[in-house]
Amino acid sequence: MSHRPLEDTIAQPVGTTLERYIMRTQSEFPYATGELSQLLRDIALAGKIVSREINRAGLAEVAGAFGQQNVQGEQQQKLDVVANIRFIRALTNGGQACAVLSEEEDGIVHTGNVQGKYVVAIDPLDGSSNIDVNVSIGTIFSIYRRVSPYGAPATEADFLQGGRRQIAAGYILYGSSTMLVYTTGHGVVGFTYESSLGEFFLSHPRMIIPETGSIFSCNEGNWHDYPEYVRDYLTRCKERRCSGRYVGSLVADYHRNLLVGGIYLYPPTQKNPDGKLRLLYESFPLAFVIEQAGGRAEAGPGRGRVMDLIPTHFHQRTPLFTGSYSLVDELLGMETT
Ligand code: AHG
Ligand code: MN
Ligand code: MN
Repeated sequence: MSHRPLEDTIAQPVGTTLERYIMRTQSEFPYATGELSQLLRDIALAGKIVSREINRAGLAEVAGAFGQQNVQGEQQQKLDVVANIRFIRALTNGGQACAVLSEEEDGIVHTGNVQGKYVVAIDPLDGSSNIDVNVSIGTIFSIYRRVSPYGAPATEADFLQGGRRQIAAGYILYGSSTMLVYTTGHGVVGFTYESSLGEFFLSHPRMIIPETGSIFSCNEGNWHDYPEYVRDYLTRCKERRCSGRYVGSLVADYHRNLLVGGIYLYPPTQKNPDGKLRLLYESFPLAFVIEQAGGRAEAGPGRGRVMDLIPTHFHQRTPLFTGSYSLVDELLGMETT
């Protein structure tokens, strides 16, 4: 079977608003009850609010360290906190999510919507080291239908279902323009935000990653800590005169490669044998999107496809190699002795 994605079942014209798009394509959703549609609307709404906060960050003195650490011992930024609050609030008010797992929270955040059928895992602000330097950042989200009974609080098992159980996933990129990109398992669509109208408009009706590309994206500062097969692969890329492009915001690096073709690598290092990226709210959603766009996401030799992984804990990490199909294929073919 080809890994290239299937044709869209319902094509919509460029310029369609997100709202209209969601209404028209609702029947594509695995659970066409309108609830998932509402969840996507809630995420888009929080994205608009966060986009506004980011745009005024330099003026409103919201940039800079918050003076607290998150559960993983990292310095929290004010915008990390702001984005976390905005997304949780939107998902709480929307009523469809019974619980949220956030990078910024240790455990499950119960929204009080015990009848809600969905749970959402989220990296509210990705690329936080770039907040203060006016470089693109993002939000990443992943949606599951809960497995615990309706009416009761969500449980750990709702979030530990594994990549293949995602029913929707995507990201918001706060870049030169703000974009929402998502999949519900029927290809990948991209919307661009027009802030003066307060609307997302369909700008990328069918996102397909080129089969190959000439960009590699990784933190080469970690070169000496990379496994040999990764160094050999990067040497090959350089011999081919590929371009190195690394923003340091996963969403931005990933989005560029999705559009023009390339490979993103966050390999295991000596210090972090599982890499740095988080499985539930970074690697799973981006793996779902890239596969729906005809690309590939792997956790590295011997670890398999990211979508096949079954997590054991919330803030679990995984190495990530993702992007154009043939580039990831080539990496996996490297000698690992
Ligand atoms: P976050 O800001 O959500 O903690 O994520 C940061 C991640 C990711 O965005 C980026 O690709 C990666 O960290 C960069 O790590 P290095 O600085 O180690 O390259
Ligand atoms: Mn992140
Ligand atoms: Mn983050």
